[in-house]
Amino acid sequence: MILFKSLTKRYDGHTVLQDIDLQISGGEFITLVGPSGAGKSTLIQILTGALKPTRGSVSVDGYNITKLDRASLQKYRRKLGIVFQDFKLLPHKTVFENIAFAMEVCGADEKEIRKKVNEVLEVVGLTKQKNHFPRQLSGGEKQRTAIARALVHNPKLLIADEPTGNLDPASGKEILQILQKINVNGTTVILATHNKSLVDRLMRRVVNLKEGKIVSDKQEAGYDYV
Ligand SMILES: Nc1ncnc2c1ncn2[C@@H]1O[C@H](COP(=O)(O)OP(=O)(O)OP(=O)(O)O)[C@@H](O)[C@H]1O
Ligand SMILES: [Mg+2]
Repeated sequence: MILFKSLTKRYDGHTVLQDIDLQISGGEFITLVGPSGAGKSTLIQILTGALKPTRGSVSVDGYNITKLDRASLQKYRRKLGIVFQDFKLLPHKTVFENIAFAMEVCGADEKEIRKKVNEVLEVVGLTKQKNHFPRQLSGGEKQRTAIARALVHNPKLLIADEPTGNLDPASGKEILQILQKINVNGTTVILATHNKSLVDRLMRRVVNLKEGKIVSDKQEAGYDYV
């Protein structure tokens, strides 16, 4: 469970998030929408521990992650799956190697890596392209690689900030389908996007941020892609 309490972030007197109270249960698929500058990425960065709030707390499974020391924070971050708009793939590594690398840095052995990488490649439908380099992939395939990489540590929570921002609508839809499939398998998914039209037919819980405040939090009738 994730609990944001009176979360406030200010930059030089400019309030970017103000008194955010939000509770997210395990297994939810929650979409964070709102215009550019509303504070979505700031909220997400605080949740990933990349940014400290000015005031308030974020607790994840009972731990206030805004107060963790370096080592605990690193441990916490390794348990998250994080996906960005710009994929962040290593250009000189293949799809397989990009995903494997996330496990190598944690000291996993070769056999374990091969098994897991093949498994997550299957989840995102990229088995055939596993020996391709990023330059040989479409935008959608790059993002699927990034999602596969985010899955190697079996995260309970997957956080995606504008994962469809660089994609055409059809590839964007594919990405949402994959996120939904991951959610159906038990992972909590938090998706931030300013492209509400893309998610309109998909989402169950939609939290709308505007000028740093939650202006609505609705359970919307969802259409299932999977
Ligand atoms: N390092 C910073 N210093 C000062 N202001 C910042 C900083 N980072 C973000 N901001 C401001 O915080 C506000 C919220 O930014 P944020 O990136 O969270 O918005 P967003 O909802 O993710 O927007 P978008 O849809 O464009 O991604 C913006 O007004 C931005 O200018
Ligand atoms: Mg943003």
